[in-house]
Amino acid sequence: MSFAQPKTVIEEGDTVILYVTTNVYAIEAVPQIRNKKNEMVEYVFQTNFGALKVKDIIGVPYGSKVELSKGWAHVLQPNPELWTQTLPHRTQILYTPDISMILYQLEIKPGSVVIESGTGSGSLSHYFLRAIRPHGYLHTFDFHEERVQKAQEEFDSHGLGEFVKVTHRDVCQNGFGEELNGKADAVFLDLPAPQLAIPHAAKALKNEGGRLCSFSPCIEQSLRVCEALEQHGFVDVLNLEVLQIEDVVRTKNVPVMDLEFVKHKKSESDKDAKTPKETKKYITSNAPNTIAGHTGYLTVAELPPLFAR
Ligand SMILES: C[S@@+](CC[C@H](N)C(=O)[O-])C[C@H]1O[C@@H](n2cnc3c(N)ncnc32)[C@H](O)[C@@H]1O
Repeated sequence: MSFAQPKTVIEEGDTVILYVTTNVYAIEAVPQIRNKKNEMVEYVFQTNFGALKVKDIIGVPYGSKVELSKGWAHVLQPNPELWTQTLPHRTQILYTPDISMILYQLEIKPGSVVIESGTGSGSLSHYFLRAIRPHGYLHTFDFHEERVQKAQEEFDSHGLGEFVKVTHRDVCQNGFGEELNGKADAVFLDLPAPQLAIPHAAKALKNEGGRLCSFSPCIEQSLRVCEALEQHGFVDVLNLEVLQIEDVVRTKNVPVMDLEFVKHKKSESDKDAKTPKETKKYITSNAPNTIAGHTGYLTVAELPPLFAR
């Protein structure tokens, strides 16, 4: 239940982030787990700094430093950003830089009704759920039965079940269901053929209009999305790519050149004059040598209100 509201102390059953300097893990705070022989045994979690007896963190305040057999770690309350770094991957997932742009472009706010497909590993869903609570709702769809079941179990165990329904359906063939016609403020698609879901998305958006965003790994897919958006009355179509560049800030010693020699005729002492004698410290900012590469294109568009379509 550890995603739903801020907590001070770890309770049994919480999902807890174990933050070890070089690694981040999500663990369930339970004293025992089932082993391969289906027997209940003490839950000992192994990290690269040794083992943690998980029962020892129950009752400990979030943020505490806890001992491992060969070092230490911090126990943190999970949030969507930490969950994205630690969640069990059942599919490819979306990461925070793209997700921040998706939430911004879809104008997600408390109270928003959002439709998402596919659910995948539920990485993006957790950000939607944080942003729409306490009055909004997330309808998320996937055609893979096991992923649907796992996602619903995760949302329930994270204390988010009352804000989300996971439905098992092929949305390209069968849409989002008549009961959702005219109900959504925003639709998000992360599908191999999103253009087939766009007519259904147009039906699901509110009569007052709404926003749509589709994630496409390649430009050909986003072109197909753009064409479908125009055919179904969407306007202000925009294709974006989020590339994260983190400038490295560091203090550097910069040589101070004595340029006096340029004013005078060349002489024997010029050699010395060109050699900087003084250095000065400056705070500098450099782009890193390597930049995280392409993830995908975000195609966003607006469906105007019914009277203007
Ligand atoms: C890349 S994953 C989505 C990842 C998700 N955005 C996340 O951040 O965890 C794509 C998902 O779409 C589902 N999918 C593909 N085609 C679908 C369809 N026609 N209807 C419903 N789900 C579909 C797949 O089963 C898969 O789980």
